[in-house]
Amino acid sequence: MRFNVAAKYDVIVIGSGISGLICALELAKRNKTVCVLTKEAVTEGSSLYAQGGIAVPLSEGDSAEKHLLDTIKAGSGLTDINVAREIVAHSVSGLESLISYGIKFDSSLQDKIHLTKEAAHSVSRVCHVGGDASGKYITKVLVDRACREPNISISQGTFALALLTDKKESIIGVLIEDVTREHYALLANDIVIASGGAGQIFENTTNPKVCTGDGIVMSYQAGAALQDLEMIQFHPTVLFDNGDPFLITEAVRGEGGRLKNIKGEYFANQYHELGELAPRDVLSRAIFFELEKTNSKHVLLDITNFSEDYFKFRFPSVYQTCLDRRVELFKTGIPVSPAAHYFIGGIKCDLSGAANREHLWCVGECASNGFHGANRLASNSLLECMVAPHFLVSKLLEDFKPNPNNITYFEIDLDPKEYNDSIIFRIASDLKKNNSSALGLIRTKSVLSQHLNYLNSLFESLSPDKLSLNCQVQELKNMVTLSFLICQAALKREHSLGVHYRQDFLNLPDECKHLVSCKNTELYWLSQTFLTPVTANTK
Ligand code: FAD
Ligand code: SIN
Repeated sequence: MRFNVAAKYDVIVIGSGISGLICALELAKRNKTVCVLTKEAVTEGSSLYAQGGIAVPLSEGDSAEKHLLDTIKAGSGLTDINVAREIVAHSVSGLESLISYGIKFDSSLQDKIHLTKEAAHSVSRVCHVGGDASGKYITKVLVDRACREPNISISQGTFALALLTDKKESIIGVLIEDVTREHYALLANDIVIASGGAGQIFENTTNPKVCTGDGIVMSYQAGAALQDLEMIQFHPTVLFDNGDPFLITEAVRGEGGRLKNIKGEYFANQYHELGELAPRDVLSRAIFFELEKTNSKHVLLDITNFSEDYFKFRFPSVYQTCLDRRVELFKTGIPVSPAAHYFIGGIKCDLSGAANREHLWCVGECASNGFHGANRLASNSLLECMVAPHFLVSKLLEDFKPNPNNITYFEIDLDPKEYNDSIIFRIASDLKKNNSSALGLIRTKSVLSQHLNYLNSLFESLSPDKLSLNCQVQELKNMVTLSFLICQAALKREHSLGVHYRQDFLNLPDECKHLVSCKNTELYWLSQTFLTPVTANTK
């Protein structure tokens, strides 16, 4: 089918989360024309729901070196140390840049930014806004800014379907369905994928509906390498509310909340010396084992160390949501269980977000630069979203490569099959359920192998390599492709490392290596890279 080219920009950014918006604003500041594509409202994405905040080593007893060590420790040996060092070293300037946009972080009585503690941080270093509504306030300020910026155009309700290449296979554009359901192509010199994670491939997730891994799969289909897809982080404390999960920020535990099983036994210290503040992978598994032991669906977060007034002031969203859902939080405790939360793997890239295809960049949760190793340290994602766009923009401008073409239309082969809405819905809900059993916190070869067969059969019925113009169908195809790649990687990694826990291979690896997935290539191992630092201009 033929698709006309409707417009051309210097840069197209797919995604309007914190990473995409900062990227767009920094590019626009440097006179680049930017089009931000976003499949729902501009505010929608994981960024909006972030609670705890951003990790920055600001306190007197803290330093970039301490933050780096905590990051590496949580990352279980898979962290790319140079990447982590650079991101942490730029955390303060990144924060200053965010403050210069107009974001006011919560402060303590002395007018200093209030810092809270979260799991596996050796000191309090998490800055927050609006108590537990960090993402909401930061997103609002960035969206207001971007809407006022003449060099940025934001296309809401616009679904990016596929990346487009010219005859020389250079990436030059994006095929979209816009808000009026028209399909056409947009061209750009460079394309930035900022499409977030993929929690929606699981039944129980903290992620909003838009997180279906589209940008990751689109990049894979266009020849980009993906990395460490098996590394999926589960958040230990998500409000257990039959099908409507709501995160209970780790800061609640950071400030003294305790976990007990339904028999009333406090258990966290039996699993790790840091108890409730153990790294997320350890605590999520501890909860899983307690649920099995007590044959229950949730444990309880005891918050009786807080006065009700203080809790309401410090965690207004958690407090209100619990009230709305009739949770008697001070009487019974908050019922919680682990849920899929963060996609550690993603599009393989360097510190500047450059993928292995020219003119293709990635930033934020969809990117895999090795910062998070095999287990992300709490509040390090927003840190990355805040800092990485500066590296990206600096590199894109420093090494600017023109990408000229005079293409006016594209001919694209489409999937000829028609899919019925109710069948799509059923396949999607089965996929989520099956992914939760096979690719969840505890994995084994036999279950993974069976799951791979199931995913293979979905491949035959859904042809995920063929593009559909029906966005719901394309989302499902993306989820199936990603689930398949995750399952392959989880099978191949025959050891336990960080969030990847193989009950049949509890051993650690001899050497921690990344696992790379590339179209038409066998999965392969790659030693950690030690990159030459690039400069980030955060001014
Ligand atoms: P997102 O904010 O997820 O944005 C993705 C964007 O891509 C959206 O605009 C979406 O519409 C768009 N998109 C996706 N596919 C397409 C497509 N096909 N076409 C067009 N647009 C598309 N991290 C922390 O560090 N601290 C925290 O306190 C914290 N709390 C969290 C709480 C919750 C409930 C969740 C879910 C996550 C939390 N995280 C936290 C993780 C962090 O919020 C995310 O990793 C981060 O916000 C991701 O930002 P992003 O810019 O990469 O993507
Ligand atoms: C939280 O507030 O617990 C989420 C923090 C994060 O995901 O980093």
